[in-house]
Amino acid sequence: MLIKPKGTHDIYGLEAKKWNYVNGVIADLMSKYNYDYIRTPIFEASEVFHRGVGETTDIVTKETYDFVDRGDRNMTLRPEGTAGVVRSYIENKMYGDAVQPTKVYYNGTMYRYERPQSGRDRELTQFGVEVLGCDEAIIDAEVISIPVNLFKTLGLQEVKVNINTLGDKESRDNYRRALIDYFKPHINCLCEDCQERYQKNPLRILDCKVDADSEIIKNAPITIDYLNEESKKRFDEVKKYLTLLEVDYEVNTRLVRGLDYYNHTVFEIEAKVDGFGSNNVLAGGGRYNGLVDLLGGPPTPGIGFALGMGRLMMALDLEKIALPIDDGLDAYIMYVSQSEKEYAMSLAQDLRMNGYKVDMEYMGRSLKSQFKQADRLKSRHLIILNEEEMQNDVIKIKDNVTKEETLVGIDYILYYFEEKTSLEEVSDKDLEKYLEKEEE
Ligand code: HAM
Repeated sequence: MLIKPKGTHDIYGLEAKKWNYVNGVIADLMSKYNYDYIRTPIFEASEVFHRGVGETTDIVTKETYDFVDRGDRNMTLRPEGTAGVVRSYIENKMYGDAVQPTKVYYNGTMYRYERPQSGRDRELTQFGVEVLGCDEAIIDAEVISIPVNLFKTLGLQEVKVNINTLGDKESRDNYRRALIDYFKPHINCLCEDCQERYQKNPLRILDCKVDADSEIIKNAPITIDYLNEESKKRFDEVKKYLTLLEVDYEVNTRLVRGLDYYNHTVFEIEAKVDGFGSNNVLAGGGRYNGLVDLLGGPPTPGIGFALGMGRLMMALDLEKIALPIDDGLDAYIMYVSQSEKEYAMSLAQDLRMNGYKVDMEYMGRSLKSQFKQADRLKSRHLIILNEEEMQNDVIKIKDNVTKEETLVGIDYILYYFEEKTSLEEVSDKDLEKYLEKEEE
């Protein structure tokens, strides 16, 4: 039997309906915030991610799906969305657009060659947001408020927002030096990866999963103590705006994030619901004021976040949130014999084109099986085609909730659905009005 690759999922049935529902909520929320949808390629020149995400990050050193295409070009499946959006921002000169800042969102698959486990996939879906061209603290707070408000809209409660700041370049450099001095005598007690990180990017030691519980990391210097006045002031402003937006947060001075491009604000939102396991970060992001520059564009500030959709769906399940999924039908069209099959098809088309959710019998099974199928599909109405009745210009419609059966004039099926009532109950005058409307 052929099976799916490790760390990937087939999403279908009810689960797919839940995903579609949540995607709809996201699109709706984004239109309220006035963020435009952006779709960038699933693969890009390797350089976009290697340079953008950072050569020293775990993502680039161990997790990218790199390949050489048939034209001998080095390509990479996107491990995240930010670098591709920034590449597109530069290539399409969005910095020249009349409307500024550029506010975009995406919702698509990413690929990371990680060790698959609960909440950690090789093909993952991220909903993410990027704002380019605005360095105001107010936008940092807005960006953090988006996933928070998405969780509120979906009814997810057990979440915790952690924020921190890495400060500007000067503050980050000071902090980096302090970390180098601090870790120097302890270097041999750290894991192999951290020994390498010490050379290339000591901040990343704080993000290490292997050494996370060691005393050495727990006692390491914290970012806040190395901020210059500007950076401190900026962080205070972000916190002020978060309070204004009623976002509950905690400052977590150990939060540095695993990608190289961050400065100033960084944040993560954890799921706190029981049974989640260790991969409980639902969303993470931060400011990346040097990235556009690094990828060859004009110096432009940026901030964004990405949210793991698989983890979000898991949190919704664990919190037992019943999503209002509309998975019933308005009508199921049945027929007694093959002679009504063609009529069934054109009636289905007519109702569907007029906005009703309709399914029909395709295989000419027994009426008993058709009734069962209609129940399984949770159809509100059953339209039962019977040649004899149709010769008398009527069709039987059964309301599957009230169990009431009505004979409806063959030309008034649509009218029945529009008025949600039987023809016997409507006066001739109503009928005339309806027919006039139809003619118009
Ligand atoms: P990230 O922290 O690498 O950030 O990923 C964001 C979220 O994606 C994580 O918090 C997690 O929910 C989900 N995620 C990441 N890896 C996996 C995986 N292997 N399996 C399942 N879910 C996963 C970024 O990707 C940045 N681009 C975020 C950002 C946008 N920063 C600024 N703008």
